[in-house]
Amino acid sequence: ELDKGGMFDLIYKFPDHCIEAVNITKESISGLRFNNIMNVVITGMGGSAIGGDLVRMLTTDRAQIPVIVNRDYKLPAFVDEKTLVVASSYSGNTEETLTAYDYAKTKKAKIIVITTGGKLKEKAAQDEVPVITIPGGLPPRAALGFSLFPILVLFKELGIGFGKKSDIETAVSLLKRVREKYCPQVPEKDNPAKALAGKLHGKLPLIYGTSNLTDIIAVRWKGQMNENAKHPAFYNAFPELNHNEIMGFEGDSKLLKTFEIIILRSPNESDRIKKRIDITTDILKEEVSGITEIWPEGESSLEQMLYHIMFGDYVSAYLAILNNKDPKEIDFIDELKERMK
Ligand code: F6R
Repeated sequence: ELDKGGMFDLIYKFPDHCIEAVNITKESISGLRFNNIMNVVITGMGGSAIGGDLVRMLTTDRAQIPVIVNRDYKLPAFVDEKTLVVASSYSGNTEETLTAYDYAKTKKAKIIVITTGGKLKEKAAQDEVPVITIPGGLPPRAALGFSLFPILVLFKELGIGFGKKSDIETAVSLLKRVREKYCPQVPEKDNPAKALAGKLHGKLPLIYGTSNLTDIIAVRWKGQMNENAKHPAFYNAFPELNHNEIMGFEGDSKLLKTFEIIILRSPNESDRIKKRIDITTDILKEEVSGITEIWPEGESSLEQMLYHIMFGDYVSAYLAILNNKDPKEIDFIDELKERMK
């Protein structure tokens, strides 16, 4: 198998990116003071926004102040001088993020920028806004370590999350074991990521997570299938999908047989959520092509999250091979950005 576009290599490097991102962030923010912050708004798009969303998900149980992820030109009206706005754009040239940055500026919010360069870095330099400069040259989705860990470390400084060195090191060593299990050298019979890609080929994946445990990971899986594999995919989360989406499964049985459901499980699900997943699986198992549950490895929620992410990244890259696509190319996104100029 060919590593078209070098995507397998980049997935393999994810744990190294995480460590590098932690070090860069610690250096960049040392000496900064974050007093009097009442809420946090992380603003970005696509591969840059998801890192914020994942940290938001991971810290739901701990954060004592509201944290919002914003994917728009505008920011919410509550943003003021007591808001910390984290403007994250890998390229530094994403127009929604640049406009949101300007808005944050007019509201006198405290701002911190995460970028490789571009106009965002120029603006920040002009405004004397602190920048966490991450290494360039990667597709933003393959730079997840660099959009996620700066925010995680930042949250630790703000006292609204975690990012203990030992937690991060344990999680990264898990990732290093995981990458040996799922990498292209391991044959399909021993490689669950390859096997799952085979199951999804020619099917429509519906990726289900659980609110605040795995829902954002489901978003990541969906996005990776879309961008790397050029494969349509959709996501939803328990318990919400029990209140609407489930009704679609009373529909056209021929259409339903094209669906492959993936459920991203978590050992932290409550008993009520477990029961919902069991009942839903029971109702849907005859209607769809198949249902696969994925339980994470690892003890901490950080480890479990990173495990799920790496698994999904590998699945998307194997699916790209089956679809005969280059995982690095994103023609429609490029065309859109070009035509919006
Ligand atoms: C992911 C990807 C997009 C970008 C998004 C925003 O690989 O290509 O989702 O992340 O278009 O661009 P940046 O991250 O440069 O702000």
